[in-house]
Order: sequence, then structure tokens, then C-alpha cells
Amino acid sequence: MDTDVRQGTMVEADGLAKNFVSGDGSATRVLDVVRFAAGGGMTAIAGPSGCGKSILLYCLSGLEAPCRGSVRVLVEDLSAKDQRGLAIFRRAHIGFVFQSYNLVPAMSVLDNVMPPLTLAGRKAEPGRLSARMSRFRLIGHDDDMA
Ligand SMILES: Nc1ncnc2c1ncn2[C@@H]1O[C@H](COP(=O)(O)OP(=O)(O)OP(=O)(O)O)[C@@H](O)[C@H]1O
Ligand SMILES: [Mg+2]
Repeated sequence: MDTDVRQGTMVEADGLAKNFVSGDGSATRVLDVVRFAAGGGMTAIAGPSGCGKSILLYCLSGLEAPCRGSVRVLVEDLSAKDQRGLAIFRRAHIGFVFQSYNLVPAMSVLDNVMPPLTLAGRKAEPGRLSARMSRFRLIGHDDDMA
């Protein structure tokens, strides 16, 4: 998360549920969360394969709409946003490294980081960018993907 909120809860969810519907119309519940809150530090979500970690992250970031429940990120209710609003909000506040990466292998690490800033019309401040790269241990790996 890239945010000016340094303290307190950044992400919270209540009563989240997600079903997937099969071809025969039957629904399988893959997520059932009473309450989730995170912020002000690093949070790890752990559990066995298939327990719903990725689905939870998709719901918390507005990539998937839950069937039930609410998600607030930086106090904003994601369910109040349409797809365009969600895309703009994600672009400004949420960084996501997918399980299958979804990176462009022909581009450097830095070039993979830049497009959201460019699309948002923001100028990359070199000092801030290298501080972030350093924080995520990406300094020195810039040529790895080229
Ligand atoms: N598009 C989908 N349609 C139907 N079921 C799905 C879909 N995506 C995920 N699932 C099911 O939802 C459950 C949770 O999947 P999820 O990918 O969130 O697990 P995970 O905890 O991230 O697993 P892993 O540790 O292997 O990445 C699994 O049983 C999975 O088979
Ligand atoms: Mg996963």
C-alpha cells in the first residue's frame, strides 16, 4: 500500500463471503471472513493451499466483488465504487504482485514498476522510487528481468 496514512487501520473487512458458481448452478463458498483488519505494519496471511488467501486479497483490493460483506480501504467503501472508480483507486493506493506475477519479462524491474505512475500522470521522484525499491529489496535486481 502506498499511502500517507501511517498509523491505524488501512484495510478492514466485515462479514466477507465469496461463492463460485459451477456450470450446474451449484455454489461453492470459498471465503468466509467474520472480520479482517490490517494497517500500520506488515501483515502476512498464511494458510494451506486452497484456503482462500488469494481470493481474500482480491476482495480486499477490489479485484473481486464479494457476494456479501464490506471492504474499506483507507476508510473508503469499495462496494460504493464502480469498476472505473475501483481502477482509479487501485492505481493510486494499491500495489499488487500476483501469484503468477503478471510482469513483463522483457522489461526491467524498474520499468515494471513505472506504468501505474505513468498512467496516473504522476512524476516518479527518483529518491522516493529508490527508497521504495530498497524497502522491497529490489535494488540491485534492476537488470534481472531484462
Ligand atoms: N475462478 C474460480 N472458480 C472456482 N473456484 C475457484 C476459482 N478461483 C479459486 N477457486 C477456489 O477457491 C478456493 C480458494 O482459492 P485461492 O486461490 O484463494 O487459494 P489460496 O489459499 O490462494 O491457495 P494457494 O496457496 O495455492 O495459492 C480454492 O478451493 C480454489 O479452487
Ligand atoms: Mg494463492
